[in-house]
This record gives sequence, structure tokens and C-alpha cells, in this order.
Amino acid sequence: MTSTTQDTSELRRRQAQFTEELHGDDIGSKSGLSAFLSKNKSAQKEAVAKYLRNWDGKTDKEAENRRLEDYNEGTHSYYNVVTDFYEYGWGTSFHFSRFYKGENFNASVARHEHYLAYKAGIQEGDLVLDVGCGVGGPASEIARFTGCNIVGLNNNDYQVAKANWNAKRSNLQNQLQFVKGDFMSMDFDDNTFDKVYAIEATCHAPKLEGVYGEIYRVLKPGGTFAVYEWVMSDNYDESNAEHRRIAYEIEVGDGIPKMYPAQVARDALKNVGFDVTLARDLAEEQDEVPWYYPLTGEWKYVQTIGDLATFFRTSFIGRKFTTFMVYLMELLGIAPQGSTKVTLALEEAAVGIVAGGRSKLFTPMMLFVARKPNDNKHV
Ligand SMILES: C[S@@+](CC[C@H](N)C(=O)[O-])C[C@H]1O[C@@H](n2cnc3c(N)ncnc32)[C@H](O)[C@@H]1O
Repeated sequence: MTSTTQDTSELRRRQAQFTEELHGDDIGSKSGLSAFLSKNKSAQKEAVAKYLRNWDGKTDKEAENRRLEDYNEGTHSYYNVVTDFYEYGWGTSFHFSRFYKGENFNASVARHEHYLAYKAGIQEGDLVLDVGCGVGGPASEIARFTGCNIVGLNNNDYQVAKANWNAKRSNLQNQLQFVKGDFMSMDFDDNTFDKVYAIEATCHAPKLEGVYGEIYRVLKPGGTFAVYEWVMSDNYDESNAEHRRIAYEIEVGDGIPKMYPAQVARDALKNVGFDVTLARDLAEEQDEVPWYYPLTGEWKYVQTIGDLATFFRTSFIGRKFTTFMVYLMELLGIAPQGSTKVTLALEEAAVGIVAGGRSKLFTPMMLFVARKPNDNKHV
């Protein structure tokens, strides 16, 4: 065993052990508030500290390098403490989507997933990799929609356990399998998958060539990779303090070591050998209802009565209410210590995302479709 393999298995062993300590061994049956309130309080305090240790407000090179080097533990800790909040606010798909007039929230989320599957050309019976699969909402939807088989890869043990539990509950365990792993160094053999997709996940990579290179390696020659990438737009100027503040708010509140511009992502795809067949920022489409509306607090955009509860939870007032309730519960010792810090960081993210969306400096739906050439060059 090489020392890197040894380090990796040691890190995995520690993360699995910590997951059990923090979340218990009954992962899946509880979600949202009930899961949040049943955490081991001292482990939660440690998880919050591990997540926030690198996000100390600094944006200089040294601070940035710390976050990039610690991407694995940083992101693992981040999702240990935010997953229950995500489920409470958003459901089992942790991503943004476009809205048609009159379209309800869940339909819009599902359509965004169907569209990616369509662009990736996923067919019935295909073996597909979902990179950074969350708790499996998109994989369930895409497996049902296309009839394909999906392996979901995720660095966070808690989410992997939840995703497998959700698959079983939906009777999709024959089509879906969720596994623990780091997308910067995957355990799969070369040329394994017919198609690969990623939804708002590869932005957690310290270097995009790292994750795209692994995707290229495990994809069969002639196979397609489709991704909704989180990027800063061409308008973003790193030396502009206001722009950097918005990018930092997104980084801190979303556990992202560094937000890169779209051109960096496009170049990275090409650098690892992909033919980029489509690069389109879907946030640039002239939608009447903006993709970021659930975070704005603008009631005029709410499309259906059924969405009122979701909108309240994710809106500005709803988030303030949640933060206050979490603060009270923490004060009374019901919620684990550090929980308020997490809701405040999520609040910072929401503010940065809306500011970035309105000013067109940020998009969570930069769609790239890329093909691995048949002659398998660059491997
Ligand atoms: C915003 S969530 C999106 C989840 C899912 N794609 C969805 O749309 O519901 C980002 C996901 O990327 C995963 N992730 C982050 N860094 C990772 C890494 N190094 N290796 C594997 N997964 C990672 C996180 O654990 C999380 O599940």
C-alpha cells in the first residue's frame, strides 16, 4: 500500500467514525428538524468548528490556499452540518432551477434534472455516474425518467447513507447505488460509465482539472459528460472588492474553497481532453421568474399556493425566523452548540447568491456538455 492510499483510507475511516458519532447509526429515518435535533451535541460543535476554521473572513492568498488544501475535510464538515437545513428548506434535490410562469417548485426542480439527462443523452440501460450526488434526489428522478442505472459518488458519509435509504424507500435500489468517495481521486476503473453528470457539485473541487480529469478517465470513449457548474461570470473582476465580497459570501456559506470564472471551467474541460459541444449559461435566458427567487422574499414570484410553505422557509423572513428559532433552541440546550453559526453562514450565502444573480456576476447553471473522443486521447 502506498502512503497516499494509506492516508486516504485513514481519512475515510476517521470520517466514517465521526459520522456515526455525530448522526448516530439510524441515518435515514429522520430528516430535517428531527434529524437536526438528534445530533450528538459535542460532535456537532466539533463539526461546525472544522467547517468554519478556514472561513475566517480572509480572502488573501494564504487563506485561500488553506481552504484549497483542506477541501476534503472542509466540504465533508460543511455537509455534516448543513444537510438537515438543506432538506428542511429545499427537499432532496440540492440545486437551483429555472421557473416557467405557473410552474410549481418541485416541477421546476425535476425539469432541470430531466433537461440535463436529455443533454447528456442518457438512454435506458445506460450506466451513469452522478458526481457529488447529495442525498440522491436528482439520481432518483433521472433513473425514473430515463430507465438508466446510476452510481452516485459523494464524499459525505451522512449523505451517502441517506441517499441509499431514500433509494430503498422509493423502491429504486436496483437502479441506484450510492458510494463514498472523493471526486478528485475516484475508485472506479478507466472507461466504466456510458454517461456522467454533475449538478452544482464540482465547484467544491480545489482545481477543476482534477475532478474533470477523473470524470474523463472513468467515462467510456465516445461518452458524454453534462454539468451544471457554479461559476462567476465573465463580468467578474477578482480585483474589484465588491465582486470579491459576493464571491466570498458564496464560498463561506456554501463550503466552496474557491469560486472560479466560467472561462476557467471551460478551459479545464478542454485541458483534460474533452470536446466541449455546448457551453450555455441558462441564467442568461430571458426568464420572467428568476432562478434565485426562492431566496429573495419577493412574494410576487410565488407560482402556486402549494409553494407558499417552501417559499416562506427559503425567503429572507423565513430564514430570519429559522435563525432565531435555532438561536433560541441553542440557548436552551435543545439544539447543538454552533448551530446558529451555521444558519448565519447559510444566510451569508443566500445574500451573496441573490446579489450575484441580480448583478449577473454568478450563475449556478452554467451548462457544459462535453464528449470524450472515440480515440480516447489524453488518457
Ligand atoms: C450542492 S450539493 C449538490 C448535490 C446534488 N448534486 C443535488 O443536486 O442534489 C454538492 C454535493 O457535492 C458533494 N461533494 C463535495 N465535494 C466532494 C468531493 N470531493 N467528492 C465527492 N463529492 C463531493 C457534496 O457532498 C454534496 O453532496
